[in-house]
Amino acid sequence: WPRTTTWAGEELHIGGVGVRELAAEFGTPAYVLDEEDFLARCAEWRRALPDGEVHYGGKAFLCPEVVRWLDTAGLCLDVCTGGELAVAVAGGMDPARVVFHGNNKSPAELFRAVSWRVGCVVVDSFAEIGRLAAVAAEAGVRQSVMIRVTPGVEAHTHEFIATGGDDSKFGFSLRAGLAAEAVRRVLTEPSLELAGLHSHIGSQITDLAGFTLASRRMAAFLRTMEDENDVTIPKLDLGGGLGIVHRPGDPLPPRPAEVIAAVREAVPAHVRLAVEPGRSVAGPSAVALYEVGTVKEIPGARTYVSVDGGMSDNPRPAMYGAAYTAVLASRSSSAPAREVTVVGKHCESGDVLVRDLPLPADVRPGDLLAVPASGAYQRSMASNYNHVTRPPVVAVRDGSARVIVRRETEEDLLRLYV
Ligand code: LLP
Repeated sequence: WPRTTTWAGEELHIGGVGVRELAAEFGTPAYVLDEEDFLARCAEWRRALPDGEVHYGGKAFLCPEVVRWLDTAGLCLDVCTGGELAVAVAGGMDPARVVFHGNNKSPAELFRAVSWRVGCVVVDSFAEIGRLAAVAAEAGVRQSVMIRVTPGVEAHTHEFIATGGDDSKFGFSLRAGLAAEAVRRVLTEPSLELAGLHSHIGSQITDLAGFTLASRRMAAFLRTMEDENDVTIPKLDLGGGLGIVHRPGDPLPPRPAEVIAAVREAVPAHVRLAVEPGRSVAGPSAVALYEVGTVKEIPGARTYVSVDGGMSDNPRPAMYGAAYTAVLASRSSSAPAREVTVVGKHCESGDVLVRDLPLPADVRPGDLLAVPASGAYQRSMASNYNHVTRPPVVAVRDGSARVIVRRETEEDLLRLYV
């Protein structure tokens, strides 16, 4: 739960605002984002790495207002598409503080990154090194780059979000010698400047072993490359990946300072360390708010509680088998708990938000359910499946609430049709 969450007057409050008031004013479903909590998480990362760089992973959740918060907090930004870059600029971020990722950046994206003077482009393939060098030469720019390396570390996470293995689609394999070749190639391009090496081993990681191993391998590789090529490589970026708690009893992930302590030892003194946390900043800061529409009891089987959103605003349970929890947030109840399945309104049976959730037996239409840890990879992965409009993001702070991403309307959807 976001740090300002309290129970008052028998309902859940976030940022000093009650959920009933939020639902009445902004409708449901909605993502409620605790500004103070988000900023505190940025500050925790900043404090953990005062002499390095913290780039927020914009794919977790991005909008112009959040870009302004990042600026205030002294964080830089990692983007992985031209669209994310456009949001960064719309939010007023200096492109020099943006790092541009992606395994298949288009020529147009590379051109825009170079002409907008993006601080760093993370090159991901030999083809891209050539393309970027040409674009930069054409623009008369010496583009700073990092090389994305797959260090052969298997993070213990879902296979779809593990990215550090040798057979990953991302980056250059260390073991196969491709990363060393990429370093040599970048060094031969006069329009490129080798600013650092980068690795990212996966996401929703809750133990330190993978981070430590990756940092050792990357630091050793960096030294070897410096020696072999007689250059200095000033930066090592170890990516993001720190996990969060979704349910009571989930493994407690380490704090940012523990991650930094675990990786820092391997990093040579002259090398600046960078990280790219996404989920661990945005995830715990927001709550998804839904209204219950129907309660269906199937005798001898299960009880379905249907809410007014579902897999379009949170695809993670269906995609990754991610386990969430929810609570009755709009009132207190002394009814005994019974296990229910919380489902969405989409036209398929896989549209389950929470399985086997104990909820008070008197849960009924009109009740509000709150799902914690909904700030990362939910709004940013939301779809319009079944022509459902995407929910707003409401920022709460010190007792007041404001929309920072408005609710999509049917007009928004219809606008695309020819
Ligand atoms: N840096 C790079 C290069 C990345 O690829 C990612 C995430 C991050 C940083 C941020 O990682 P974080 O700290 O958020 O774990 N859609 C999936 C997660 C995909 C993550 C992709 N890359 C999910 O919902 O779990």
